[in-house]
Amino acid sequence: MKNIVILISGGGSNMATIVRTAQQEHWEQRYGARVAAVISNKPDAAGLAFAREQGIATEALDHKAFASREAFDAELAATIDRHQPALVVLAGFMRILTPGFVAHYAGRLINIHPSLLPAFTGLHTHQRAIDAGCKFAGVTVHQVTAELDVGPILDQAVVPVLPGDTAETLAARVLTQEHVIYPRAVRALVQAL
Ligand code: GAR
Repeated sequence: MKNIVILISGGGSNMATIVRTAQQEHWEQRYGARVAAVISNKPDAAGLAFAREQGIATEALDHKAFASREAFDAELAATIDRHQPALVVLAGFMRILTPGFVAHYAGRLINIHPSLLPAFTGLHTHQRAIDAGCKFAGVTVHQVTAELDVGPILDQAVVPVLPGDTAETLAARVLTQEHVIYPRAVRALVQAL
C-alpha cells in the first residue's frame, strides 16, 4: 500500500479535498494508495475532526512542547514514519522544517504554496501580490527542498487579481484552485510510485 501522510496546521480544506478525491476516485483500488494519517502541530486544528470522522488515523504533536525545532522535527518524523509513508503532503502546515527533516523525506515530500512561485515565497502572499500591482496570482505545488518554497514545481494554477480585491477575497479565489491542483498533483505522484 502506498501510504499518504498529510500534515496540517488549521482548517485542512486541502487535506479534506485530497481525502474526498481519493474516496470518490477509489485510489485504494486503482492505485493502491490511501491517506493513512493526518498529523497536526496544533492540537485544536479543525481538520483533525474531519479526518477522524473519515476513519483516518490522526495525531497531534504540539510544537510548543518541544525545546527546539530539531527536537520537534525528530518527533514529527518518528510519528510520520510509524505510518510508513510513500508520500508526505504538507497542506497548510505552517512550520519551517529543518534540513535534516527535509533530507529524510527527499523526493517524497510536497507542499502547496499560495503564490505563483518563484514569486512571493514566505508569508502574506496575497497582500504582497496586491501591493505589487499583480494582475494575476495563483498557487504552486512543489517538491520540498531545504530552502523555503523553492523546490521543483510540480503544478500551478493562475487566477486574476480583480479591482477591489483584498487579501481575503484573493485568498478565497486562490483556494478554489488549490482544491483543483493539489488532488491532481498527489494523484499524479501516487500513480507514478
Ligand atoms: C492554503 O491556502 C495553503 O496554500 C496555505 O495555507 C492554506 C491552508 O488552508 N499554505 C501556506 O501558506 C504554506 N506556507 P487549508 O488548511 O484550508 O488547506
